[in-house]
Amino acid sequence: MSFTADRLLLFGATGDLSRRMLLPSLCALDADGLVDPKLQILGTARSDLDDAGFRNMARDALEHYLPENRKGGIATFLNRLHYQPLDATTLEGFDALAAKLGTPERGLAIFLSTAPSLFGPTIEGLRHGGLTGNNVRIGLEKPLGTDLDSSCRINDAVASAFPEKRIFRIDHYLGKETVQNLLALRFANMLFEPIWNAAYIDHVQITVAETVGLESRIDFYDGAGALRDMVQNHMLQLLALVAMEPPVNYDPTAVRDEKVKVLRALRAVTAGETVTGQYRAGAVDGGVVPGYDEELGHDSDTETFVAIKAHIDNWRWAGVPFYLRTGKRLPERTTEILIQFRCIPHSIFDRASARLKPNRLLIGIQPEENITLSMMTKLPGLDRDGIALREVPLDIAMPDAFTGVHRRIAYERLMLDLIEGDQTLFVRRDEVEAQWQWIDAIRAGWDKEGLKPKAYSAGTWGPSAAIALTERDGRSWHE
Ligand code: BG6
Repeated sequence: MSFTADRLLLFGATGDLSRRMLLPSLCALDADGLVDPKLQILGTARSDLDDAGFRNMARDALEHYLPENRKGGIATFLNRLHYQPLDATTLEGFDALAAKLGTPERGLAIFLSTAPSLFGPTIEGLRHGGLTGNNVRIGLEKPLGTDLDSSCRINDAVASAFPEKRIFRIDHYLGKETVQNLLALRFANMLFEPIWNAAYIDHVQITVAETVGLESRIDFYDGAGALRDMVQNHMLQLLALVAMEPPVNYDPTAVRDEKVKVLRALRAVTAGETVTGQYRAGAVDGGVVPGYDEELGHDSDTETFVAIKAHIDNWRWAGVPFYLRTGKRLPERTTEILIQFRCIPHSIFDRASARLKPNRLLIGIQPEENITLSMMTKLPGLDRDGIALREVPLDIAMPDAFTGVHRRIAYERLMLDLIEGDQTLFVRRDEVEAQWQWIDAIRAGWDKEGLKPKAYSAGTWGPSAAIALTERDGRSWHE
């Protein structure tokens, strides 16, 4: 099992993800000497290209997507690239693919970044081409299905050729530096873990806000919506990392065992605990933008915003709501987690100006990477009428704390982990299934109630009902 692959086979090699993320990440790793000198990368897709044509495409993508100071390694990296056209829906091309790939010295890593409908036929083809042996591992890009059933079908198809320990399901949020920092914050400090529970925490908020709209993904997005596109995967992974029990060590099994327990403890949500929205025309980043239906070209009931009040039914989190919200065309791009602590049990300060605010821990994931703990402190002065207090932040701005340290994008880490075989940051089958189970129940509730998304203007924080979701509990979203 523990081999560093010397061949990488990329399905969907001419696609958007490959051009924007995979090739630039691999090139950056190569430029830093982190890729095995022997690694050869074979791209495949339907496009009728040869090696030279693929290298030209890759060069254009790298010139476009790599930052200026990372372009030095392009020419050397291109030498690693090869290409074999393939129609993955038929078995015929897989022999030629295997022949072009040659025999790896140590092992092969495969990455599928294709439509999920191609996963089944591709696995068949790989088996046919003799590309599923013990020295082969496979990475899968989302979406892995649209509900529990379809996800099980995909997982069954992959499992028919690869054991779970050789399957690497991507959730790119797990590759983000600040997401892993959550584990460091929780489990490398004495300060938080003793109070990380219902006795001290009032509620948790997780926000993933985007300013972009449909982009160029009309077909995919309209069939998915915010719940399946963002909550089922990224937001539930964030929730699991915030809520899980301490794993015994930082090992793929230990970490994923704890995450899945949280996912299984999620209580079924009632329709009144969710709000869905769809953006109308408005203004984002100072520009006027059209509504979702206009971008789409027809009417649709797909939600571009969702807010949920979730509960984790276990000892640690009894009675602590987790408010989740995500949406497109919101006022700013921000991903953050807010841990709202409870009030102190008794105040010794009785002046009006000494009104206490409960502590908050704000974990900024992107674009700002910082951790802020808001604390009550004394306002300087003689206090002849009694002590005055004010809330001040105790701040860690990650870029300042680590100046000069190069911060890697998620796919750099994840591609390297795939090549080297570390599963810690990949999602296990039981996690995916627990995630879908919870999401499917929410969708079934919406269908039963005939719930339609409420309109919100682009550039606002979603429909007003989302604000009511927290306000009726006497709480407010952090903005
Ligand atoms: C993807 C979703 O998984 O994540 C997109 O399909 C979304 O709709 C993207 O825009 C957000 O990723 P990031 O890293 O930009 O927050």
